[in-house]
This record gives sequence, structure tokens and C-alpha cells, in this order.
Amino acid sequence: MVDRIRLTTLSTESISAVVLMRKSVCTTSLFRTLLLGLFLWGMQSTLLFADGAAEWLMTDLGQPLSKAEIERYEITIFPDGTNLPDGQGAAAQGKVLYQNQCAMCHGKSGIEGPAARLAGSDGWFSFEDPLRVLRIKEYPILLISVGSMWPYATTIFDYIRRAMPHHAPKSLHNDEAYALTAYILYMNDQLEESSTLDKQSILEITMPGKARSVSAKEQITNLVEQP
Ligand code: HEC
Repeated sequence: MVDRIRLTTLSTESISAVVLMRKSVCTTSLFRTLLLGLFLWGMQSTLLFADGAAEWLMTDLGQPLSKAEIERYEITIFPDGTNLPDGQGAAAQGKVLYQNQCAMCHGKSGIEGPAARLAGSDGWFSFEDPLRVLRIKEYPILLISVGSMWPYATTIFDYIRRAMPHHAPKSLHNDEAYALTAYILYMNDQLEESSTLDKQSILEITMPGKARSVSAKEQITNLVEQP
């Protein structure tokens, strides 16, 4: 496209300019000057043609994704449960998976790290909690964890299934992702260790982070509805 603009703007004027220049330098070489002009014109049409051909070729770049490939990426789960897959997993199974595949980075109980904190709040939120100071003494870096901050349990499932374990994302089956979500909820006192999670029961969880967060969607809806 850039080439075409450059050529089009250059073409008519530059050809006449070449003709004029050549004329003033040597009037006898008019024939050669015209030949040069003709040559430039020819070049321009050839290049324009090549440009057009390139554009035509460009539109043919890329290829449609197969259904299987789209399914691999189309995995976003929404807070209302849209896209949650079938399957189920128990917190007890999640415990075994967690110890084998997650604890080395997130710590034995989800708070020791070194990777992101999954459980507890370290007193970050509970300013009035008398034990806060003791917890801070034990874990001096104040961090907000998944269990205390994330407003929806469905996001835990979504995140684990698409991104964890860090070295092998998307390697977990749906049942395993449900089991690990259940175990993280258990570590955050949101489920019993004997509980099982599936696409219905996960929607019954009300995360503590829900009350601590503000919904942009609700804010906008309220604004629009106001007279
Ligand atoms: C090799 C280290 C490693 C392993 C193993 C690992 N994680 Fe993670 N995890 C991370 C890192 C690093 C992050 C932060 C990633 C980021 O913010 O981009 C993270 C983030 C997370 C988060 C989101 C935390 C937040 O606050 O954003 C969750 C939930 C999680 N991991 C769960 C798991 C589960 C469940 C497993 C086991 C199946 C697991 N992780 C295994 C390194 C790991």
C-alpha cells in the first residue's frame, strides 16, 4: 500500500520533471528522454501490478482453525457458570494432586510460597483480629491470597485448568481441575474435606472475596439506569 502511494504520487510529476530536466540539459536528447519516461511509466504499471498481486496473495494468508483447535482455546468460564464442563472431583483427591503437582511452588498449605499465595489472608483484611500480629510474625510478607480475594470459585477452576501447573499448563483433566479447586476451597475453609465439586455445586460457593470486590458491570448498569 505504501509502495503504491509512493509510486502514484511520484509517477506523473516525476516523469514530467525528468522530461523537463533532460530537455533543459540537452534538447537534442528528447527522444532518449521520452524513452526514459516510457520506461518509468512501464515500471510503475509493473510494480502496481505486482503490488496488486501481493495484496491478492496476502488475503490468502492464514488458514481456518479446526474445531479441535478452537475447542482448546475456547475454555473461558464465566462467574455464572457458562462453559463449565461436566465432571467432578473431591477435595480428598485434590489433596493428593496438590501435594504431587502444586505444593513445591505454592507451599504445603498454600501459604508458604514461593509462588502466589492460595490460602489465608495473613491478617491483611482482618485488622480487628487479635491474632493478626502473630500471623504477621509467622509470615512477614503481607499478601492477599486467592482464597481471600477472588470473588468467584469458577475463576479458580478456570485458572487452574488453563494455566497450572506452571510448567505444564492444560495438562489437567476436568475432574482433576474440579478436585484441585475443591481442595483450594477446603484450604480456605469454604468446603469440607469430604466435599465434591461439579458444575452445579461450584456455583453454590460464595467466596469471601465477593463481598470485598466491586462489580464494574453493576456500577455501569446503575449509572445507565439513573435518570
Ligand atoms: C513451577 C511452579 C508452579 C507449580 C508447580 C504450580 N504453580 Fe500455580 N502458580 C505459579 C506461579 C509462578 C503463579 C503466578 C503466575 C502469574 O501470576 O502469572 C501461580 C499462580 C497460581 C494461581 C493464581 C494465583 C494468583 O493469585 O493469581 C493458582 C490458583 C494456582 N497457581 C494454582 C496452582 C495449582 C492448583 C497447581 C497444581 C496443579 C499449581 N498452581 C502448580 C507457579 C506454580
